[in-house]
Amino acid sequence: MVKAVVAGASGGIGQPLSLLLKLSPYVDELALYDVVGSPGVAADLSHISTKAKVTGYLPADDGLKAAFAGADVIVIPAGIPRKPGMTRDDLFNINAGIIRDLITGVALYAPSAFVLVISNPVNSTVPIAAEVLKKHGVFDPKKLFGVTTLDIVRSETFTASVVGKPDPSVFKIPVVGGHSGDTIVPLLSLSEPKVELSATDRDELIHRIQFGGDEVVQAKEGKGSATLSMAHAGFRFVESILKAVAGEPGIVENTFVYLPGVPGGDAVKSIAAGLDYFSVPVELGPSGAVKAINILPQVSEYEIGLLEVAYTGLAANIKKGVDFVVGAP
Ligand code: NAD
Ligand code: LMR
Repeated sequence: MVKAVVAGASGGIGQPLSLLLKLSPYVDELALYDVVGSPGVAADLSHISTKAKVTGYLPADDGLKAAFAGADVIVIPAGIPRKPGMTRDDLFNINAGIIRDLITGVALYAPSAFVLVISNPVNSTVPIAAEVLKKHGVFDPKKLFGVTTLDIVRSETFTASVVGKPDPSVFKIPVVGGHSGDTIVPLLSLSEPKVELSATDRDELIHRIQFGGDEVVQAKEGKGSATLSMAHAGFRFVESILKAVAGEPGIVENTFVYLPGVPGGDAVKSIAAGLDYFSVPVELGPSGAVKAINILPQVSEYEIGLLEVAYTGLAANIKKGVDFVVGAP
C-alpha cells in the first residue's frame, strides 16, 4: 500500500500534480495538505473512479500530522511562485520558512518517507530540508531529492525543436548542477541520440534551457510560473521513485541530492568544486538513491566552462540555505 502526500496541494502545481497521482496505478492513498482549499480539491478528485483514496487536510485539528502520518512519499510544491522581474532567490524569504515548517512535520510524523522538494529556490530549499532533518536526527540523504526534472523535460523538448525531431521523448540529455539560471548545466555533448549543432544554435539552446522558467513567468504576466509542465515533471519523478520502490531495476533520474550521503556522491563532489549538493543522474532503488552517476569526467571543454560558472552560484545558494537553519557563522 503506497501513501503519497502533496503539500501545497491547492496551488497551481499542486492541483494538476494531485490529479496525475490520483490517476496513477502506483498510488493507493493520496493525502492533500495545504493552508487553504485542500478539502475541496480532495472532494473533487475523490469522484474519479481510480483506486487511490483521497483525503484533504488543513493545518487545523492536527491536519499536518494526519496528512503526513504513514506517508511513503511526500511531494512539496508549497510556497510562492515568481512574478516577472524576480529571481528564484527572491522567493527565499517566504519559502524558506514554509519548507522548514513542512520538513519539521516530515521529521515528526513521517521520518522515513521519500521527500521531493519542488518549492523554489531549490538550490537553497533542499539544504534547508536536509539541515532540519539532521537537527531531528532523521536525515536519510538517499530519500531527499530536489526536483530538477523540469530542466530535463525542457532539454528534451527544446533540443527536439532545434534539430527538427517530431518526438522529444526520444532524447536523453543529462542536466546537472542546480535549478536556477546559469546553475542549470545541460550536457548536450552527452545527448542520446547525438546532436550536431552550430556554436550559435548550441549557445541559444543552452540559454533557452537555463532560462526556460523565465519564458513561462513572462508569458503568464504576473499570474505565476510553470505549473502544468511542472506537474508533469513532478509526476514523472514521483512515478520513477514508486517504480523503483516496487522493485523495477535501472531507474535513473537527474535530481539535486546531498552528495556525501549518496553512494558515488563523493566522486562527483571532488570534481564539483567540493559542493555538498548537486544535481546528477541518480540510480533509484527500493530504499532511494542507490548511486550518483559521475558523468562529469565525460563533459566537453565548453561544458567545463559552464560548470565553473554554476559552481560559484550554487555555493552561495547552498550556504544561504544551510545558514538559515544552523545560523550564519
Ligand atoms: P501557487 O501559489 O499556485 O501554489 C502554492 C500553494 O502552496 C498554495 O496553494 C498555497 O496555499 C500553498 N502553501 C503556502 N504555504 C503553505 C504551507 N505552509 N503549507 C502548505 N501549503 C502551503 O504556486 P505554484 O505555481 O504551485 O508554485 C509552487 C512553488 O513551486 C513555487 O515556489 C515555485 O517557484 C516552485 N516551482 C518549482 C519548479 C521546479 O522546477 N522545481 C517549477 C515550477 C515552480
Ligand atoms: C521553472 O523552472 O519553471 C520554475 O523553477 C519556476 C520559475 O520560477 O521559473
